[in-house]
Amino acid sequence: MSKVQFKKALLVAAALAVTTSAAAAGKLEIFSWWSGDEGPALEALVKLYKQKYPAVAVDNATVSGGAGTNAKAVLKTRMLGGTPPDSFQAHAGQELIGTWVVANRMEDLSALFKSEGWDKAFPKDLTALISSKGGIWSVPVNVHRSNVMWYNPAKLKQWGVTVPKTWPEFITTCATLKRKGVAAPLVMGENWTQQHLWESVMIGTLGAQGWQDLFSGKIKFTDPRVVGAFTTYGKVMDCANKDASGLSWQQASDRIVDGTSAFNIMGDWAAGYFTTTKKLAPGTGFGWATSPGTSKVFVMLADSFGLPKGAKNRAEATNWLKVLGSKAGQDAFNPLKGSIAARIDSDLSKYNTYSKSAATDWKNSKIVGSMVHGAVAPESFTSAFGAIIDQFAATKNSAGAAAAAQQLAVKAGFSK
Ligand code: GAL
Repeated sequence: MSKVQFKKALLVAAALAVTTSAAAAGKLEIFSWWSGDEGPALEALVKLYKQKYPAVAVDNATVSGGAGTNAKAVLKTRMLGGTPPDSFQAHAGQELIGTWVVANRMEDLSALFKSEGWDKAFPKDLTALISSKGGIWSVPVNVHRSNVMWYNPAKLKQWGVTVPKTWPEFITTCATLKRKGVAAPLVMGENWTQQHLWESVMIGTLGAQGWQDLFSGKIKFTDPRVVGAFTTYGKVMDCANKDASGLSWQQASDRIVDGTSAFNIMGDWAAGYFTTTKKLAPGTGFGWATSPGTSKVFVMLADSFGLPKGAKNRAEATNWLKVLGSKAGQDAFNPLKGSIAARIDSDLSKYNTYSKSAATDWKNSKIVGSMVHGAVAPESFTSAFGAIIDQFAATKNSAGAAAAAQQLAVKAGFSK
């Protein structure tokens, strides 16, 4: 080797050494809305990541606000400004696909799915939900159920009412409870939780097929059945607290625990809140049933993480995705979160009785996707739909709300 060659080799070796140690002591920024009461499950996952990659400094960046209402706005600014987080939370389905995949801002994860064996680890329908244009766009960490009605078993007993099985029955039970002095038999929170309730009333009235037809454009929002379901939703709202807009979903859940209200319709992150934060036992500390009219239906949503193009710490982000798609990752996260694993090989002995029941229903029910949590509609529809719900709360004009929703559906491109 000549002197010049030797010098060159030294320089290359030095450069390599720098890259390797930089990688070993890398950084990772993950972005989500899981802060405060929603934090423990994510922290368990981060802990697992740190065990595997101790030299990586993890920035667990969160923007609080249920259902990601605030986080999604911040994410938009960062994505459009060219400073994406290394990996971010997004709902599996249209939320990610209709926003960032169509805009060509995400990396295709197909190769990772192959190398990690995820093509076999997740249910086929779930993989289909995160796929489009020949690519797979995110890694699902869980499956949440949205159509759950929560109650306080001791209080129902005291009031002498049982769990209503249909929405008309719910309205009758509501009247009974009001007669017994319960001012707000149903508790609701801020706008997105009302959309969540609307979704349950709609599915409980139209049925699973009707719901699917609505979001595939086969039936219109102006269909008399949909208009009728809006009217039912209006009656259900009459059972609810008047201070809803000022309550987070956790504060609404608290009113079940303290016995102020009898029922709350919320996704099963409420089970995570009841068990992980409130230390309540499933079945006694809190009770659950499918929301009225949906006993054989599982309305699903999945939290997933993707890899944006231009992520600063791509290698660390890829390792993050590997941890959250792993069996160990999913079984560390989900028992705390209230959700079940997205993987089919999860160890159910690690889960409580609520989650075990959800896992059984996941196998035996008709599965449909949630609108408000991003599975069946693009974010453009969901975020604008919030205004329709607010307007409806003020006017109770079913035909008007249905017509406005139809216009949005046409604009979003899933109806004509
Ligand atoms: C959902 C999300 C859940 C939970 C919930 C409340 O959209 O999928 O994981 O965080 O919002 O914030």
